[in-house]
Amino acid sequence: MKQLKPVQAEAPSFSSSTSVLAATCSSSSSTDVLEIELLLDALHRAHEYDFRGYARPSLTRRLAQAREHFGCRSYSQLQDLLLHEPMALPKLLGYLTVQVSEMFRDPGYFRALRQEVVPHLKTYPSLKVWVAGCGAGEELYSLAILFREEELEDRTVFYATDIDRDALKQAEAGIYSLDRLALFTTNHRRSGAKGSLSEYYHAGSRAAVFDRTLRKRTVFAEHNLVSDAVFAEAHLISCRNVLIYFGRPLQGRAVGLFTEALARKGFLGLGDKETLRSTGHDEAFEPFVPRERIYRKRGEL
Ligand SMILES: C[S@@+](CC[C@H](N)C(=O)[O-])C[C@H]1O[C@@H](n2cnc3c(N)ncnc32)[C@H](O)[C@@H]1O
Repeated sequence: MKQLKPVQAEAPSFSSSTSVLAATCSSSSSTDVLEIELLLDALHRAHEYDFRGYARPSLTRRLAQAREHFGCRSYSQLQDLLLHEPMALPKLLGYLTVQVSEMFRDPGYFRALRQEVVPHLKTYPSLKVWVAGCGAGEELYSLAILFREEELEDRTVFYATDIDRDALKQAEAGIYSLDRLALFTTNHRRSGAKGSLSEYYHAGSRAAVFDRTLRKRTVFAEHNLVSDAVFAEAHLISCRNVLIYFGRPLQGRAVGLFTEALARKGFLGLGDKETLRSTGHDEAFEPFVPRERIYRKRGEL
């Protein structure tokens, strides 16, 4: 990643006046569109983060929130800030990468893994599982717990990757606020749990710390599905609630990576919001649990 020399020690002080300005001289939407293109180009050229192929409606919404947060009158002003104030980058990335998640989110997906996929995984002596776009780790811990419950943990290496460094740090820490645990517990039970979720964490006064042994077989790494190469020869790739943020060509690129990364007859779990349709790679897979968008790579590939 290129390091740009800071030209200002502190964030510019145009914040309070700009909300008024933004309200009074709102730019035309075609100007916004142009300025957003230029901003994304600058983000790519200066920092090598490429959001140019993300689905525009939600990206535009998130950029508008970032612009509001930074108190910028226009996207050009936000671009200026990005180029001259290094501290702006992580914050902007925080807006551009959506971090909504739950443990055992959509429990039917995990139930389908247990019931339909695990029996096949049990036939392999060693396993690699890639959690692509793992966010703050909720999906990773869900899979690690499921693999322990299904007695697959000892033969498995997990690769947990994301574009967002801060999210990866949270994933490595495995600490979640107590107010989220009721939902995690319900989801876990609905996923066909074999025990209680409370066996896997220690609750403090405000947060629960998940058992570090759950991640002892996990490699955490920054990996960008837009620009980086294939990660590992995997038996299962779980990439949920990530492709929805991509435009079609980018979805195609990511699924192309998964196709290359998967072992013969490996499984790809996308979750119920995404599909292989129109990615250009649906031929490479057979639907395995269609309801949960779990696919299996065809054996002849
Ligand atoms: C909504 S979260 C999904 C987290 C988890 N997979 C789940 O379903 O609970 C989307 C994640 O995708 C990550 N992401 C977005 N663009 C990415 C990219 N180009 N490469 C890798 N991860 C990306 C974000 O940083 C974020 O952690």
